[in-house]
Order: sequence, then C-alpha cells, then structure tokens
Amino acid sequence: MKLIIANWKIYLGAKESVALARRLSKIKSKNQLVVCPSFPVVSEVKKALGKNIKLGAQNVAQKPDGALTGEVSAGMLSSLGCQYVIVGHSERRHTLSETDAQIKEKLRVVVSSKMIPVLCVGETLSERKSGKTIEIVRKQLSVLRGLKFENLVIAYEPVWAIGTGLTPTLEQISEVHKTIKKVIGKLVSKTKVLYGGSVDKKNAQKILSLAEVDGALIGRASTDYSSLKKIIQ
Ligand code: 13P
Repeated sequence: MKLIIANWKIYLGAKESVALARRLSKIKSKNQLVVCPSFPVVSEVKKALGKNIKLGAQNVAQKPDGALTGEVSAGMLSSLGCQYVIVGHSERRHTLSETDAQIKEKLRVVVSSKMIPVLCVGETLSERKSGKTIEIVRKQLSVLRGLKFENLVIAYEPVWAIGTGLTPTLEQISEVHKTIKKVIGKLVSKTKVLYGGSVDKKNAQKILSLAEVDGALIGRASTDYSSLKKIIQ
C-alpha cells in the first residue's frame, strides 16, 4: 500500500474542496489517501472525507501557542482531526523564506501534538545542474538531528519539478530516495519516503512502482477528481 498525499495548496475554494472530498470518499482504493486542504476548510473537508481518507495540514505555526498572528497551531490542527502536517514545503522555503531553524521548531510541535510530519526536501535546478543534489538533501535532513520520531514521512520534491510538468528520471528519483532512506534509517524506524513534483495520472504508476518510493505528494493533479482517482486506485 502506497501513501498518497494530496496537497491542495490554495487551488480550490471552500465549496469545491468539500465537493471534491465528498466524491473522493466514495472511491475504493488500495492505497492510503491523505488530503491536505487549506486551513479554513479543514473541518468541513474532514466531515466530507469519511473514514477511509486521512486529513492533513499544509503548514503549522512554529510555536505551540501565544502571539503569532495569522498562524494555526499544531494543537488546533490535531483537535480538528489532522494526522499529518506538511513541513518545509519548497514554496514556503523559497517564496516565504522559511528557514531550517523554523522547520525544526515546526517538526517539534507536530510531534508533540502526536501528528506525523511530512518533511519536504529537494534541490533547485541550479543545485541539480552543479551536482549538489545529494549534498543539499542531506543538509535539509540534518534538521532531524536531536528530535525523536515514531513516524515520519519525507517527501523528495525537487523545486524545479514542482508545478512545471518536469520530473527527474526514475534513476534520479531512486538515487535520492536511497540516500534519504540511508540517512533516516539510523534515526527513525518507521519512515516513508514519497516523491513529489509534477506527479500526474500519466507518470504516477511508473514512479510508484519503484521499490524505494513509498508514495507520492501531489499538488495540481490532486485537485482533479479523475486524475486523483486514477492515481490512487
Ligand atoms: P505539483 O504536483 O503541482 O507539481 O506540486 C507538487 C507539490 O508541491 C506537492 O506538495
């Protein structure tokens, strides 16, 4: 069984999110689907998803509570039924300047609230071109040091593959996943390593058939019912 995480980003409005969740709840799938809607619709989507689909969040505040205007705490997310939280997505690292120090705090609060972090790592195009992919991924994984996890998900999402229609070759995906598994194997026993970046109904089966790929983190294609249905079935 593979783990498929749908990251709806801010693609869908409230009504569309609930309607899509309702349709997805009727699909019989051999894989585990987790849906990460945007914050304002988390509760409504949770109700619409039913029992078989799990709920996740796209981000979390770095502090457990207090004065952080506009943020949403891990405790709130957990009480609303979230079981997974995406941390360190490249859109937050690169567009919103999130740092490794903030990412580490977020991992800490997610674990304290008994949810599973989905830590995103991945290189930019210039890093890939200059042969630095493995070095960058190892550096991004170093935020895990000193933290304790029972369950952890790592998503390898090359920045240049997100929303571009470009994907690495299967060999490139395998290479990075193997490295991640080697690094993490020493720290956490239960880890899943997902691939993300332009996964769609055409390329999903090939990527998911790789032994090192435990699932996928999907943006755009996960907002389309028939694409997601095809990917998870
Ligand atoms: P796309 O699937 O739209 O490329 O987005 C990937 C992603 O960022 C998932 O978190």
